[in-house]
Amino acid sequence: MASGGDVPGLIRGLEGIIAAPTAICELDGINGRLLYGGYDIADLAEHATFEDVVYLLWNGELPTADQRAALSGSLADQRAIPDQLVQSLRLYPRGANSMAALRAAIAQLGLYDAESESIDTVALRRIGMRLTAQLPTIVAANQRIQEGRDPISPRRDLGHAANFLYMLSGREPSEGDARALDVSLILYAEHEMNASSFAARVAASTLSDIYSAVTAGVATIKGPLHGGAGEAVMRTLEEIGTVENVEPFATAALAAKRRFMGFGHRVYKNGDPRAVILRAMADEATQRTGDRKWFDMSVALHGVVYREKKLHPNVDFYSASLFAALGIPAELNVPIITIARIAGWTAQLFEQYADNRIFRPRAAYVGPAPRAFPRRGQ
Ligand code: ACO
Repeated sequence: MASGGDVPGLIRGLEGIIAAPTAICELDGINGRLLYGGYDIADLAEHATFEDVVYLLWNGELPTADQRAALSGSLADQRAIPDQLVQSLRLYPRGANSMAALRAAIAQLGLYDAESESIDTVALRRIGMRLTAQLPTIVAANQRIQEGRDPISPRRDLGHAANFLYMLSGREPSEGDARALDVSLILYAEHEMNASSFAARVAASTLSDIYSAVTAGVATIKGPLHGGAGEAVMRTLEEIGTVENVEPFATAALAAKRRFMGFGHRVYKNGDPRAVILRAMADEATQRTGDRKWFDMSVALHGVVYREKKLHPNVDFYSASLFAALGIPAELNVPIITIARIAGWTAQLFEQYADNRIFRPRAAYVGPAPRAFPRRGQ
């Protein structure tokens, strides 16, 4: 098998390769800065809503009050999903992986959208709105069906984040919980040429439809080296079990070359600015609930991994204890990242369709030299 070690011209993992121009998101890995449309993520987390950020990512400017109301109303109006899709969710096997279910459901959603094959600019905007509105409904409905309960219809009078929490539990969330999820969605909404955005762009670059491109994004963000780390972090904390066990567990695991999910990043080498915000939010949320176990374990694990490997936590690390404090089961951590990232994917797909060239890199052949086909019987 090709190892690709010393192949001239090969850049493993396409590290540092610039694959497209974008006006959506700027990622400064050296200084640990992330900006959407020129606005620092910390300012957006403090002052904006997820709906504002969707508008910003799609239009390059923050909305006016009227524009915010129009976009929020449009999302709220389109939250319901087709009955046939709900029936299909009921047929998915119990215990199905939550991201596998979401991948299947999004592919299916396209079948019920009469505009799905259109890549016309205006149609793409309408589809982007529907996808952003409906993903939370799919995730909540699937979760409830998996738990043997009936799905809850979306409410029009709640914001995007609050409505999602409502559809999960049937209870209107507290303002604090709704805002914590809202800010998490902002932090996860977009992240330049990450693997899933690239996958979505590659699919779109063939002029395949936007549902196919988003399905490629979902398939890619599912992996544990990408968004899948969101669930893996909580599974690691469960495996470690107690705060006291963090130090012995982590030092032994690192000595055995274990990779801790939620640490390290291809681009941020001096820390992920989203992790700083999420740590503060997890701290605050767990103070509210009074159950500090996962947060305290996270702080302890952060200390050991940094001390031993000089690795910083990434966005997925403190979101695990934050989401747990919001009463969200760990298997929904990655679907939640996805309902945020749909905003960034669609924004990038609008860019890609508007200025397209098919992605078609090369591979360096390292297999056998040309050889004669063996004669039969020899
Ligand atoms: N735990 C332990 N060691 C790590 C970790 C980790 N999480 N991440 C990197 N390292 C080590 C590697 O073992 C390697 O060490 P070595 O040179 O001694 O072999 C070195 O750091 C460089 O690692 P690479 O894999 O080459 O770094 P790369 O840029 O390719 O990978 C990645 C980045 C995939 C994020 C990596 O840090 C990782 O696997 N992290 C865990 C998964 C994770 O949290 N992913 C979420 C990323 S954010 C997001 O997608 C939403």
